[in-house]
This record gives sequence, structure tokens and C-alpha cells, in this order.
Amino acid sequence: MRLIIITALIIAALSGVSAAEAKSLVVVFSHTGENYTVGNITTGNTMKLAQIISEKTGAEIFEVKPSKPYPKSYDECTDVAKREQNQNARPAIAEDKDISGYDTIYFGYPIWWGDIPMCMYTFIEAHDWSGKTVIPFCTHEGSGAGRTDRTLKSSMKGADVKSVTAVRGSTAQNNRAASEKALAGILK
Ligand SMILES: Cc1cc2nc3c(=O)[nH]c(=O)nc-3n(C[C@H](O)[C@H](O)[C@H](O)COP(=O)(O)O)c2cc1C
Repeated sequence: MRLIIITALIIAALSGVSAAEAKSLVVVFSHTGENYTVGNITTGNTMKLAQIISEKTGAEIFEVKPSKPYPKSYDECTDVAKREQNQNARPAIAEDKDISGYDTIYFGYPIWWGDIPMCMYTFIEAHDWSGKTVIPFCTHEGSGAGRTDRTLKSSMKGADVKSVTAVRGSTAQNNRAASEKALAGILK
């Protein structure tokens, strides 16, 4: 028994992080303004999910914001997003966040043309993901997670990237109970 306790203490000391100190962060991008399905919104669909995760886990939210905001108009936004994707652009982001002190990153985004918005690639490529547990979640209007299960795994090198939890944008915006249910499996 004494040996087990001593071993546990040594492991905790060597790892430098006890279970109680493990920290989580919610990194999210979410668009506000005109949305094709749910109208004019002041809190984005994906942000609604981020808020639930934050409430339930105590994790702080970091919102990725492009330096040049995407248009509020739906049609204009889809045009800009398509152009960025075709050009494989890395739009500048207004602010960055040091993620080195976090073990678990909840990573949230809307599906844009089947993938993550390009400003999220900007964020991903600015950071070292090795050793992190990444729990992706997204909202969409029919594509599910699109190809993001694959793109996240290949761009977050060294991370343990879990399967994407995909929720309909209209559900995220208007149905808190269903959103909580959809997220229940990823809250820790
Ligand atoms: C630029 C753009 C591209 C989109 N592309 C897709 C898509 O490929 N598949 C899909 O199911 N929904 C697509 N949508 C719908 C969004 O994924 C959906 O409305 C989402 O909930 C928006 O989340 P947000 O409010 O957090 O930005 C797109 C929306 C926009 C604005």
C-alpha cells in the first residue's frame, strides 16, 4: 500500500500536473448577423454551445475573431468564405491566446463550405498542439461535421483529437435542452 502511494506521488511530481490542476479552454469562432436558417442573431449558434460547455465545465472561453470581421450579410459572408477557402487563405486574427497551460481544448466552429472557417486554420497553425486533448464541436445545417474530422486531425499535430460533435445550428440557437443532450458526452 505504501509503495502504491509513493509511486503515485512520484508520478504526480514528475508530470507536474495533478488531476485537480488539469485545465480546459474553449476556443470558438462563431458568426453573428444574418443567418440563413435562424434569422438575425446576436449570439452565434456555435457560441451558444460554447457557453453551455463553459457553464458546465468552468472552462474559460476564448473567441477567435478575424482582424477584418466577416460580413454580417449572409450572401456576402458566404462569398468571402468561399474565396478564402479557394485561396487557402490564413486571415489574420485580432487577438491570440497562449494555450500552453491547457490540457484539454474544446474547439468550436461552424461548418463553412464543408470545412472549418479559414481563420481557425490561422489559429491552429500559430500553436503547438502536441500532448493536448482536443474535443471538437461544430454547428451546421445539413453537412454534419463535413470533412473536419480529417482536417483537424491532420492539422493539429501531436494532439489526441476526438471525434467531432456536430449539432444543427437551429438546435444550438433555439433548443437549449437538446443542445445540452448533444454535448453531454463530451463534458468532463
Ligand atoms: C459561409 C458559410 C458557409 C456555410 N457552409 C455550410 C456547409 O457547407 N454545410 C452546412 O451544413 N452548413 C453550412 N453553413 C451553415 C452554418 O454552418 C450554420 O448556420 C452554423 O450553425 C453557423 O454557426 P455560427 O452561428 O456559430 O456561425 C454555412 C454558413 C456560412 C455563413
